[in-house]
Amino acid sequence: MKIALASDHGGFNLKGMILDYLEHESLLYEDLGSYDREKVDYPDFTLKVAEGVAAGEYEKGIVICSTGLGVSMVCNKVPGIRAALCADCFSARYAREHNDANILALGERVVGTGLALSIVEVFLHTPFQGGRHQRRLDKIGAIEKKYGNGIEIFSR
Ligand code: RB5
Repeated sequence: MKIALASDHGGFNLKGMILDYLEHESLLYEDLGSYDREKVDYPDFTLKVAEGVAAGEYEKGIVICSTGLGVSMVCNKVPGIRAALCADCFSARYAREHNDANILALGERVVGTGLALSIVEVFLHTPFQGGRHQRRLDKIGAIEKKYGNGIEIFSR
């Protein structure tokens, strides 16, 4: 499993902690920025993660800003992305089991580091349950198509 990560300046510190965790767990990842604490616009780096996951280049993504709100909004504009903003492990578990979320959004100013790493662990290791939940995801896919951008394939 290869994981793509991105943050703005507001999520930069937490991204560093998560990179350390992934390294420690010997998980494959790619840091798509930002690479310092300079103020940046969260859509820029976040979009790289969303497009990479949508294209199948990465199995999952993790995006971080101060609140997690902006980055989750950006990701969910990309067809095929189901980004879940989580501030607890219960939501992270259900985001995977029921929603097959492929991107986790976190808010550095919302969750402490210990909780954030537990959320990441649950998100990365909980499988999708399928069954009746797939039918509901298919309906999300139909909504994407209805609004005209459901089958676009991204290349970077
Ligand atoms: C940056 O100041 C902040 O707006 C951003 O990190 C994020 O929280 C936006 O949703």
